Amino acid sequence: MNFPEGFLWGASTAAHQIEGGNVNSDWWQREWGHLPGPPVETPSGDAADSYHRYPEDMALLARAGLDAYRFSIEWARIEPEQGWISRAAVDHYRRMIGTARDLRLTPMLTLHHFTNPVWFARQGGWMEDAAVDAFLRYVEAVLPLLDGVELVCTINEPNMVSVLADPEVGFPAVGLPPGVPHVTDRLIAAHRGAVELVRSAGARAGWSVATQAYQPEPGAEAVAAEYGASREDVFLDAAEGDDWVGVQAYTRTRIGPDGPLPIPESAERTLTGWEYYPPAVGEGIRNAWRRAAVPVYVTENGIATDDDARRIDYMTGALQAVHACLEDGIDVRGYLHWSALDNYEWGSYRPRFGLIAWDRETFERHPKPSLEWLGRIAQVNALPAS
Ligand code: FCB
Repeated sequence: MNFPEGFLWGASTAAHQIEGGNVNSDWWQREWGHLPGPPVETPSGDAADSYHRYPEDMALLARAGLDAYRFSIEWARIEPEQGWISRAAVDHYRRMIGTARDLRLTPMLTLHHFTNPVWFARQGGWMEDAAVDAFLRYVEAVLPLLDGVELVCTINEPNMVSVLADPEVGFPAVGLPPGVPHVTDRLIAAHRGAVELVRSAGARAGWSVATQAYQPEPGAEAVAAEYGASREDVFLDAAEGDDWVGVQAYTRTRIGPDGPLPIPESAERTLTGWEYYPPAVGEGIRNAWRRAAVPVYVTENGIATDDDARRIDYMTGALQAVHACLEDGIDVRGYLHWSALDNYEWGSYRPRFGLIAWDRETFERHPKPSLEWLGRIAQVNALPAS
């Protein structure tokens, strides 16, 4: 199963989940109870110390044979006080981009991956109208970084940001809470503004949507369509006219006449409790293509497991689904696995998504067989048919 020439093969991360010491972010402050929000099992602390160890992390990806690395720059470091831009933080991310390019890894830069500066959160964050301007001023401040960067993701999973914007919101056992409509509108406005800015700097702009593979039971088609409208489709529709759209897929959600159905007892589950369902990514790609009709990158896809053989099995199924989309003429341009490293899964270190493990005390990196496996696929740009 060959992939098109120039297809990108990589892995993804997010600053807060791997850097460590992200003290000026709203997440850090929430972890320690200084901002409202549900309590976490473990604070992020030093995370994987990738703030200092990124050259080693990127070198491991490149050495394995991958050619792309998606990572986020941290607004809370770049603008720790409103209107004050840290040149040192900007320089840090400039060095990261340079390191990626030296290693022949195409950098995909995410400008916003869930975390906000504390000052932004204290002003009400995305719940307030001022959010859009504040975000766009930050984007303007980082435009000089984009010199030589081709792919920029403005906002990671706006559908999750819309849900997380209200710190009081709780998650149901299955499915997602609906987004907050005025937050969704604001995120779309922020994205549109950011796309213009990013393009003015010569880069290709898109955003990445958490696709949920909503599957209706017979007769529940209308319920599923309505369920997906505010949680997924509105964000894919907003990507129309962008340079690309990112699909982030992990599992499916089956929908019955009354909404999401529980995962059957007999189904295999991953460490996040999600159903093991590799074809999800194909469904996400197809919905994104149908609605946004722009080139698609799989910007996240993976599973939390301690059994690396299951990760390889999952990637095999997922890549078969990606390949089937290509065969159907869908313009898929790359596959970036979540995640390069085991990381801070928003409250806990237990769900391990990484292609690379690391020692919690020494931070020593231990690449897993799945990294070598994906690197080999990347090198031959093909998935073995059997
Ligand atoms: C996505 C997030 C990412 C990670 C994975 C498991 O929703 O973008 O940060 O938590 O899920």
